[in-house]
Amino acid sequence: MPRLAHATASQAVDAEILRLAAEVSDTQQRLLGFPANAAPQVDDELAAPLLNMLLNNIGDPRTPDPYGMGSKDFEQEVVELLAWLAGAHPDDTYGYLAPSSSYGIGHGLKLGRDRLPHAPVYYSSAAHYAVPRQIDLLRMDAVQVPALPDGRMDTIALERACKARPGRGAVVLATIGTTMTGAIDPLPEIRRAASPAGPMHLHADGALGGLVAALAPPSERHPWAFDGGADSVTVSGHKFLGCPIPCAILLARKELVRPAQQGQYVGRHQDGTLACSRSGLAALLLWRTLARLGLGGMEKQVLSCLEVADYAQQRLTELGLHAWRHPGSITVVLDPPPPEVRARFSIPVEDGIAHIIAVPHVTPDLVDEFCDAQQTAKAQGSPLS
Ligand SMILES: Cc1ncc(COP(=O)(O)O)c(C=O)c1O
Repeated sequence: MPRLAHATASQAVDAEILRLAAEVSDTQQRLLGFPANAAPQVDDELAAPLLNMLLNNIGDPRTPDPYGMGSKDFEQEVVELLAWLAGAHPDDTYGYLAPSSSYGIGHGLKLGRDRLPHAPVYYSSAAHYAVPRQIDLLRMDAVQVPALPDGRMDTIALERACKARPGRGAVVLATIGTTMTGAIDPLPEIRRAASPAGPMHLHADGALGGLVAALAPPSERHPWAFDGGADSVTVSGHKFLGCPIPCAILLARKELVRPAQQGQYVGRHQDGTLACSRSGLAALLLWRTLARLGLGGMEKQVLSCLEVADYAQQRLTELGLHAWRHPGSITVVLDPPPPEVRARFSIPVEDGIAHIIAVPHVTPDLVDEFCDAQQTAKAQGSPLS
């Protein structure tokens, strides 16, 4: 019988949860390689009331809350701010809080398929691994375009691929901050390169890098969303913004969304989302973070992350290690550290490279601790690449 088929005393149940919480908290103190801001977001005073109710945003995000147990107004304020940061007029933009970036990417690609039913999806080899799965789910043709060694989409290869399929149209998935190197695919250049395919739909996956590109000091900003010609955009809620519930904001040009009739029990409205329930708690917590920061606070936070990334790059270089990053990126790419250092700081390795990401909880002290661990490993004879 599964363990959970037996009732367990509540003290023992809570002890297991507290043990896990302690383990995760310990890991997150030294989290350097995963793109999520682990800074605490909720004080004890708020946690209990919020966790003791169902906050369910049901049905279309713009229609009245049918049961009065959601946070749709807060969700729409989050969408409004993100649309504005993405370079669109909020009145021209449809958006909602999706359960994850992968899900939001799927919706963005579906909008492309609705417009251009015969168009393949072009995406780079450095795009997130969820992308081909979403394409498969939508039963669209996939064309993988090689990435340049620094992780940006090779737009010459994109142009070649589009010329080989003229007239079918193109749905292009661009990544704004690739998972491993933080590369930003150049949206205006992509639009030009894909033009031989005919009409196009451009989705910008700005899971981590979108907000950094939007809020960096002006000299390091990039066109990353509607400002660069995107038709739909996703931004993670748990990566840079640190929402403790995984989520993402999906934004799209309003005229591209074809809402369908939702169930009568939710109210006779048209719903443009792909599901019914969305986390009202995630929306509320994101709203809280944004409301407390304001634009000035967000800009300060991005600047501070860029400074920490710069500091990390300098310190690693001083240690004689090869460390680099794209301009305006908080991802510092390095050669793989020894296994014990990787395990201690949760550093991923893919295709022979590793990275650390200066999300808001990463301090210069944590960078120092990482550099010290690298030096100790070197002194003990672990090969540093
Ligand atoms: C660029 C990029 N896109 C999409 C995703 C997937 O996000 P999620 O885990 O929210 O589905 C990630 C995750 O790291 C990512 O880095």
